[in-house]
Amino acid sequence: MREIKFAIIGCGRIAQRHAEHISNNGILKAVCDIDFVKAIELGEKYKASSYNSIDELLANEKDLDVVSICSPNGLHAEHSIKSLEAGFHVLCEKPMAINLYDCGEMIKAAERNNKRLFAIKQNRFNPPVAAVKAAIDEGKLGKIYSIQLSCFWNRNDDYYKNSWKGTKDLDGGTLYTQFSHFIDLLYWIVGDVKRVHTITGNFAHQNIVEFEDTGVVALEFNNGTIGTINYTVNSYGKNMEGSLTIFGGKGTVKIGGQYLNELEYQNIQDFEFKDLPIGNTANNYGQYQGSMSNHDKVYENVVDVLHNGGTISTNSFEGLKTVEIIDKIYQSVKQNQP
Ligand SMILES: NC(=O)c1ccc[n+]([C@@H]2O[C@H](COP(=O)([O-])OP(=O)(O)OC[C@H]3O[C@@H](n4cnc5c(N)ncnc54)[C@H](O)[C@@H]3O)[C@@H](O)[C@H]2O)c1
Repeated sequence: MREIKFAIIGCGRIAQRHAEHISNNGILKAVCDIDFVKAIELGEKYKASSYNSIDELLANEKDLDVVSICSPNGLHAEHSIKSLEAGFHVLCEKPMAINLYDCGEMIKAAERNNKRLFAIKQNRFNPPVAAVKAAIDEGKLGKIYSIQLSCFWNRNDDYYKNSWKGTKDLDGGTLYTQFSHFIDLLYWIVGDVKRVHTITGNFAHQNIVEFEDTGVVALEFNNGTIGTINYTVNSYGKNMEGSLTIFGGKGTVKIGGQYLNELEYQNIQDFEFKDLPIGNTANNYGQYQGSMSNHDKVYENVVDVLHNGGTISTNSFEGLKTVEIIDKIYQSVKQNQP
């Protein structure tokens, strides 16, 4: 079967994972970073051409199938739209964008050019998450009454220093960079959010982050389910927990661990989760840890969709839905301000 040819835009931390899995699933033809040294380093490692501008890459590289967008959040829309207009499919890192308008423009560009736009939400592949979602879809937990998402991570000042992270324009907010793929699960499992009430604060990052480092959110979903999000990057010294607790008419489950990787509690009528597969470890960036490293599954899905007519694991409409929920949460902070 013909190998899929990829390019990467943005050669920072997560791009290293992308390059590794691209080389397992296809060919990395070109990479680009405005920091040309980073582009050259990654390009040399994988024998790919290196560029310091996306325009130059797209002007020169005509023999591509997919462009993987690994640039800062606030540039995802521009980079995705340029790549789609150049005639390539796009795999976009989370969050899809940091406002709804941009998500709409990205979807329109994909439609206009008849190309696929994949959104990355790799927490869906965590074994307990996938198992709980399947059980809920089969009605095993009955009607879902309420859902609680807890995201207790640590990001110290060094993480934000000399970076786009922590800036309003390129990062967008703690829910966009740290927890958008957790919020995706609320949409995936329960659905659209009707209304939210939010309180946020910046307790420990006032001189370094342009937005909140902690928040509590009460949600009501369209189907009547209620829920909460309790999030912070102030867990002392290290990541503590990423968990989802679900109360249904026929059962209660809690998926926990540091990054939704363990089934911590289950009590379900006439049903039990048994022998869940062991998942991947977390993405380790040296100074800090991220989510479960499921980018292998993300790339397997790209191959399945493009070669076998498979279904995109997270499509662009769902990517937009996460942004819509986060947007509602941040709008409600503004409404609550005295
Ligand atoms: N799915 C996940 O688990 C996961 C994990 C980490 C990061 N991410 C996402 O991946 C993206 C990148 O994050 P990161 O941690 O790798 O950041 P990073 O800062 O390490 O890398 C971003 C790179 O983009 C480059 N860049 C900036 N402007 C550019 C431009 N105009 N053209 C080309 N390159 C440009 C920067 O020089 C930098 O090298 C973010 O959107 C982030 O939210 C996702």
